[in-house]
Amino acid sequence: MIFKTVENLSIPEIAQLFNEAFADYFVKVELTPELLQSKIESEDLRTDLSIGLFHNEKPVAFMLHGLRETDGKKVAYNGGTGVIKEFRGQHATVKMYEKQLSILKEIGVDEIELEVIDKNIQAIKSYEKAGFRKTADLDCFMGKPNEPAKNSGLRIQEIQSFDHQLFQSFWEWRPSWQNATATIEKLTDSITYGAFIGDELAGYLTAYPKGARVLQFAVAPNYRRQGIGSSLFHYFADTVSGEINVNNIDDPSQTTQRFLKAIGLKHFLTQNKMTLKL
Ligand SMILES: CC(C)(COP(=O)(O)OP(=O)(O)OC[C@H]1O[C@@H](n2cnc3c(N)ncnc32)[C@H](O)[C@@H]1OP(=O)(O)O)[C@@H](O)C(=O)NCCC(=O)NCCS
Repeated sequence: MIFKTVENLSIPEIAQLFNEAFADYFVKVELTPELLQSKIESEDLRTDLSIGLFHNEKPVAFMLHGLRETDGKKVAYNGGTGVIKEFRGQHATVKMYEKQLSILKEIGVDEIELEVIDKNIQAIKSYEKAGFRKTADLDCFMGKPNEPAKNSGLRIQEIQSFDHQLFQSFWEWRPSWQNATATIEKLTDSITYGAFIGDELAGYLTAYPKGARVLQFAVAPNYRRQGIGSSLFHYFADTVSGEINVNNIDDPSQTTQRFLKAIGLKHFLTQNKMTLKL
């Protein structure tokens, strides 16, 4: 067994490894090479910094890691860990993290974060052994939003120019790595709707229509409880077929979770956010 980075594997090879390792996962995971390429680019994942485990030259386990500078800190993100069935039960994750940590320490990473489904006890135990601790609950919702209450002064339209500072001034909590502004900026095919009262932007919602996923949404504090958030969700849901997904809600006050339930979405999963300071 050899540990080395996955930088010499092609995108289709990594996609195949990913799908094989996630074949019996809690939720369906099926990455095409194109989807993996987009994930790597938008989440700033670095194959040259990501450890894999190889048996007879064949990759059998991996942990993809990305890198960003956030609030003056060098933060790494685990964008997926998988071990194929035949190689489970040998502490591959803990062993890979030993190598992974030395790579990340060498380049001055301050902390690593990851997300793991709260029912995935085996994975949580491995991450705890590697030194990670739970730092937040991330709630995931899906469904079709109800018809919102009418707000006659409200106009919703797609916007092309993004004032991220203004958007951020509406926030009560921060989006997770996959929904962060840094991800959205590199994600082709995302779309942003603005909710206007007169000429003033009162709220916005950014989504990834291909996956029917809402990535970010917020309403200006002085425009809350006027049906703006619910109208934005309904507007987006009308543009896609089937249910929409809203993942990784990190609002400790639970207000956003109450809002999502009130508009008719269902909580279907909680992830643990885990962090390791180096
Ligand atoms: C969650 C949020 C979008 C709701 O927007 P909103 O425009 O106020 O929501 P609506 O007026 O459409 O509310 C619809 C329903 O949700 C529920 N709801 C909304 N806010 C609520 C709150 N603070 N407490 C309890 N229920 C609430 C209510 O049932 C409400 O209906 P009602 O007003 O008739 O009772 C808004 O509070 C917000 O922007 N929060 C911060 C989000 C954030 O930080 N995003 C950044 C990371 S992506």
